[in-house]
Amino acid sequence: MSTTIQIEDHITVGDLAEKLMLPVTKLIGELMKNGIMATVNERVDFDTAQIIVGELDLDIELVRKEVQAAPPREKRIVSDTAASRPPVVAVMGHVDHGKTSLLDAIRGAHVVKGEAGGITQHISAYQIEHNDRPITFLDTPGHEAFAALREHGAQLTDLVIIVVAADDGVKPQTIEAIRFARKAGVKMIIAINKIDKEGADSNRVKQQLSEQEILVEEWGGDTVTVDVSAKAHTGIDQLLDMVLLVADVEDLKADVDVPAGGLIIEAHMEKGRGPVAVALVEAGLLHPGDFVVAGASYARIRNLETTSGQPLKQAGPSTPVLISGFKTLPEFGDEFVTVKDEKKARQAAQEAASQRQSDKSRLDINSNELIRIINRSNDLNELNIIIKADVKGSLTSVLDSLKALDTEEVAVRVVGSGVGNINENDLHRAQTSGAIIYGFNVSVPSNIKQLASRDRLQLRLYKVIYELIDDVKVELEKLLAPEIIEKDLGRLVVRGIFKTTKTEVICGGEVTKGKLVTPALARVMRDGEPLAEVEITNLKRGPQDAKEVFEGEMCGLSFKSAARVDIQEGDHIEAFTRETVARSL
Ligand code: GTP
Ligand code: MG
Repeated sequence: MSTTIQIEDHITVGDLAEKLMLPVTKLIGELMKNGIMATVNERVDFDTAQIIVGELDLDIELVRKEVQAAPPREKRIVSDTAASRPPVVAVMGHVDHGKTSLLDAIRGAHVVKGEAGGITQHISAYQIEHNDRPITFLDTPGHEAFAALREHGAQLTDLVIIVVAADDGVKPQTIEAIRFARKAGVKMIIAINKIDKEGADSNRVKQQLSEQEILVEEWGGDTVTVDVSAKAHTGIDQLLDMVLLVADVEDLKADVDVPAGGLIIEAHMEKGRGPVAVALVEAGLLHPGDFVVAGASYARIRNLETTSGQPLKQAGPSTPVLISGFKTLPEFGDEFVTVKDEKKARQAAQEAASQRQSDKSRLDINSNELIRIINRSNDLNELNIIIKADVKGSLTSVLDSLKALDTEEVAVRVVGSGVGNINENDLHRAQTSGAIIYGFNVSVPSNIKQLASRDRLQLRLYKVIYELIDDVKVELEKLLAPEIIEKDLGRLVVRGIFKTTKTEVICGGEVTKGKLVTPALARVMRDGEPLAEVEITNLKRGPQDAKEVFEGEMCGLSFKSAARVDIQEGDHIEAFTRETVARSL
């Protein structure tokens, strides 16, 4: 019986060697044989460990130690003096089910029209008032490329409105959103949207929801649903009433007499303003002039504004704000906190920066990497690309989606990426690596355009993420070895042999199936076994050359072969065509 060893998702080489009771050097040697240069302190992932244990032929079974799926961010603990705060509501759901339209209807604004491709590209946040009470909304992007963004969205929120189009029903991303909400432990309200449309069926949606173990109130469950139409502006007030009702039950509070802090939900460069961050205040009161640290970046807040650009003197819990004054771009998902002075801010940011640097150099080796390395010898084809994007959030999303395109045969290799416009550096790198440069929501200065075209570099700009991804996919597909498709044409049984040389045979026979054509490929078969692959060069019906001969006809046939074929009466000649077809991913 084999021994079972439990390991977590990642384990250092040293620890693994210890668990396997192997000398570390032996394990390092084995990793090296597989093309992985790892030191004792480097970590490998579970799958890599498993592959290595397999290669070592050890009588050991590795099992993954279940780690409790702890929520990545703890909910803030509040004190007795905490004050009520507005609810933070995320709107999630399947692509095109009407999240942005619904938020528009709520705000009375028209964001949808301005969005490239009509898809929400950045997470946005804004606050509205209903019955004189503020509610904060986050619009999280719907396209699957933004799974990472969306997950953050769920963790920021107290309540999720799941939008389901009444004419389309529950779809994969609806289910995904339900899962996120459950994982984050937040309440859900279901907005059954597009109720104005023909084919809208609210009951069918409820039925489908019950399949996801969501029982709606009117069927005895505890999930609130509201029929709405973002287009006709119906049901909006009821929806907002419900939001406030659910929020009241949750009794949402936050401390205000603590250093202000929260989460960065977006960051981008703005002309004339430098780095600008969209942030959600979670506790305390934030003011212009405060010093804040967000990950490896810090700021003295120059402008504090609402997300629509109105100046604020103060921002309390659950308020989404724009912050300018950061020295560098903070990262999406960074927590921010106010500190006493500039010195403290700089220090904390520097510490975070060097911590990140060392995390980076402790690069994890994962099984994808291993498979890729193993395959490299068996010609894995890589597509080199450089990606520039306008904001960190979308860069992360693009990079994540690109990873998903990798197969065992082809893979995307990002040789450069960053936030900002395409510059000379990118061109230089593209030149040395043969990479295609992709720009997402960025522009290209005209001198760069000229240089690129002079050097015949490929530079492609996109405003819609899935179009960019599709383009990369097309490029990857070009790298796939084409598929070879053979089509049977027909069969002839040999009745007589007229001439045999080293490379040519002339014989005659009867077509017993299908047709023979010229030119075509053929296999000479004897007792069902292939003898040789040959090329039919000529067909004759009687004395006349023929292009085709059909089942039941007698014909003469010449073929060429690479080596001598000692053909006999009774052999079969099976004609076929062979085409190469481009494959798709
Ligand atoms: P992504 O951000 O791409 O995930 O999409 P979304 O869920 O934000 O959907 P969006 O608001 O962009 O709406 C998608 C389409 O549905 C648009 O053409 C809207 O005009 C339409 N639509 C949205 N709500 C309604 C509605 O209540 N009734 C009807 N008839 N059409 C709607
Ligand atoms: Mg949208």
